[in-house]
Amino acid sequence: MIGDGCKIGAFVEIQRDVHLGRNVKVQPFAFIPSGVTIEEGAFIGPHVCFTNDLYPSAVGEDGELLTEAGWRLVPTHVGPRASIGANATILCGVTIGEGAMVAAGSVVTRDVPPHMLVAGVPARVVGRRPAGSVSVSGSGHGS
Ligand SMILES: CC(C)(COP(=O)(O)OP(=O)(O)OC[C@H]1O[C@@H](n2cnc3c(N)ncnc32)[C@H](O)[C@@H]1OP(=O)(O)O)[C@@H](O)C(=O)NCCC(=O)NCCS
Repeated sequence: MIGDGCKIGAFVEIQRDVHLGRNVKVQPFAFIPSGVTIEEGAFIGPHVCFTNDLYPSAVGEDGELLTEAGWRLVPTHVGPRASIGANATILCGVTIGEGAMVAAGSVVTRDVPPHMLVAGVPARVVGRRPAGSVSVSGSGHGS
């Protein structure tokens, strides 16, 4: 489901059973697979890559391609007004808290507390989200 007012850039893949709340902005080349929920007003930067399988594999022990029944989808949750910077990778099973920010290029492997800033590989809390970096409705956040 894609909520009212969402802005989706070019070359974004959004798979089925993804939930986008109102006014979510997704920038070009983001990958959002099944099982991802993004709440209202969140910002997803260019080339952000979500995942839904922690231990991906093309084939089973018999060498045959795995079907949908052969792996377990792990959901991911992004809270309202969270922002995820360019090229971040979000491992599945995490919750990115309300108003939190993920620095560009981070690999998020653990939950991100609300209103905090995480950065690095793996991402660690480096402080609170900078003041003034939360957009007022309808403004800011680039294209
Ligand atoms: C590498 C991987 C298999 C490890 O899973 P795991 O054994 O459950 O590892 P854990 O979650 O216990 O993490 C172990 C440590 O490695 C870190 N870590 C895990 N994955 C990492 C990654 N991709 N980059 C950097 N650090 C990573 C964790 O932060 C943790 O360190 P910490 O406890 O100090 O925070 C998994 O994190 C991964 O990257 N899977 C690939 C997912 C993917 O690309 N799916 C694509 C299809 S949707």
